[in-house]
Amino acid sequence: MTTSDAKTPWWKQGIIYQIYPRSFQDSNDDGVGDLPGITSRLDYLQWLGIDAIWLSPIFPSPMADFGYDVADYCDIHPLFGTLADFDKLLAEAHTRGIKLLLDLVPNHTSSEHRWFLEARSSRDNPRRDWYIWRDAKPDGSPPNNWTSAFGGSAWEWDAATGQYYLHSFLKEQPDLNYRNPEVIAAMQDVIRFWLDRGVDGFRVDVIDWMIKDAEFRDEPDPYNRIYSAFRPEVYDIIRQFRRVFDEYPDRVMVGEVNYFGTPAYLAALYGSKTENGGDMLHLPFNFRLILTPWFAADVREAVEIYEAALPEHGWPNYVLGNHDQARLASRIGLEEARMAAMLLLTLRGTPFIYYGEEIGMENVSIPQEAVQDPYGINVPGMSRDPERTPMQWDDSQNASFSAGRQTWLPVAANYKTINVEKQRDETRSMLALYRRLIAYRRESAALRLGDYRSVTGEGIPSDCYVYLRIYAGQRVCIALNLGVRERELDIKFAGKIVLSTQLDRSEPTDGKLKLRPNEGVIVELADL
Ligand code: GLC
Repeated sequence: MTTSDAKTPWWKQGIIYQIYPRSFQDSNDDGVGDLPGITSRLDYLQWLGIDAIWLSPIFPSPMADFGYDVADYCDIHPLFGTLADFDKLLAEAHTRGIKLLLDLVPNHTSSEHRWFLEARSSRDNPRRDWYIWRDAKPDGSPPNNWTSAFGGSAWEWDAATGQYYLHSFLKEQPDLNYRNPEVIAAMQDVIRFWLDRGVDGFRVDVIDWMIKDAEFRDEPDPYNRIYSAFRPEVYDIIRQFRRVFDEYPDRVMVGEVNYFGTPAYLAALYGSKTENGGDMLHLPFNFRLILTPWFAADVREAVEIYEAALPEHGWPNYVLGNHDQARLASRIGLEEARMAAMLLLTLRGTPFIYYGEEIGMENVSIPQEAVQDPYGINVPGMSRDPERTPMQWDDSQNASFSAGRQTWLPVAANYKTINVEKQRDETRSMLALYRRLIAYRRESAALRLGDYRSVTGEGIPSDCYVYLRIYAGQRVCIALNLGVRERELDIKFAGKIVLSTQLDRSEPTDGKLKLRPNEGVIVELADL
């Protein structure tokens, strides 16, 4: 099926698809997605052609932050199913050649986790030091000015033991203390538990928040964390996690890192070169394109400074959306999202696709009184519910996401026209485009493994972005018109247009191309 190169790890060649489990498929009519639901949709994912799925957290949790508050790292939340359901999902995914990544949330536990219950039970409990406790200032106020990412102080007073504990996110998410080696060892055991079970890797939540300033200094600028997160001391913890991954063949550690990290910052997170590639993250998430305005020069620059900063052993990756960010179609527009798909699936590096982007799902606005996301409740306007709504499978009740009476978030009003079943049969739909792009990437060694080189200068209008992917004599040219006017380009090489974002052309070219507004094409050039 695939023409993958045996020497190159799967996670470099593959496409990773993120599933938000609450919203993919409900199998027991309670209005919340679950593991048997995901299993029932694996045939779709295989048809789509992706290589791996990453599941946002599925572990027991009071759901204060919808699973990013873990109460037990080694079990499944009953809402999602059982460990047996998980094993079945994993086996069925593997049968179809699909790998599975879980979400590790090591920075904090739930306040209901046994470790925290013990820690807060008394100052001399052996687990006390597994979390971060500080005395109040003489006037009773918190130890410093650190803030929670979800609003307010990062410190919560614990009256029973007379100290504050740190929570970088909700007060129901106390931060673990990674200066205590027992905590590192406990988290390494969690990683082993799942890797032993056959999981292919982890996406690791806010991995660069794990260590805080040893002196707990005040942040000089609350909007630019230098003491409460992003400390270089975290490198050593990441290395200790990586060693566990390296005990197993073919596993991958993806890290969620600072959205505003510079390319040099991302580059450092691959670690030093070793016989295993690097000694830190296999893939530190590159969110740059999420923050980049949708103009040719900005997009090109974002790609190029990133490419230039990567160490030799650092494999790139690109993310256009996830469960914390506005839907792509809502952020840049539906037509623009088609070209973004072509960009994502033709750049050098592992692409991440967020569920529903392949049909052009849009943000669903939720009235403030119905907001579920704690961030949106604390800070109106910041809700992440709009990008977490149920997957739109067809035009029947609840878009076939759930046969229950109510779904945990509303199904988008546009589900009768924007859904998998409808787009499957439409030759020029967003879904057809994703499927063609994915299939093409799978077949093209140049796209999966080739070098990246941009094409600029005469013949390339400033609102177009053109680049080559080159591998062992094969050359593929990608030409994107990000502008609002038709453009004539001269890419200077003859070849054949094999795919357009409009899915309506396939023709030879002498190097001169006419691109409609928001049109992108893939041109196969003659072999060298
Ligand atoms: C990450 C997750 C986000 C979560 C937060 C706290 O940013 O992606 O959804 O709320 O960490 O765990």
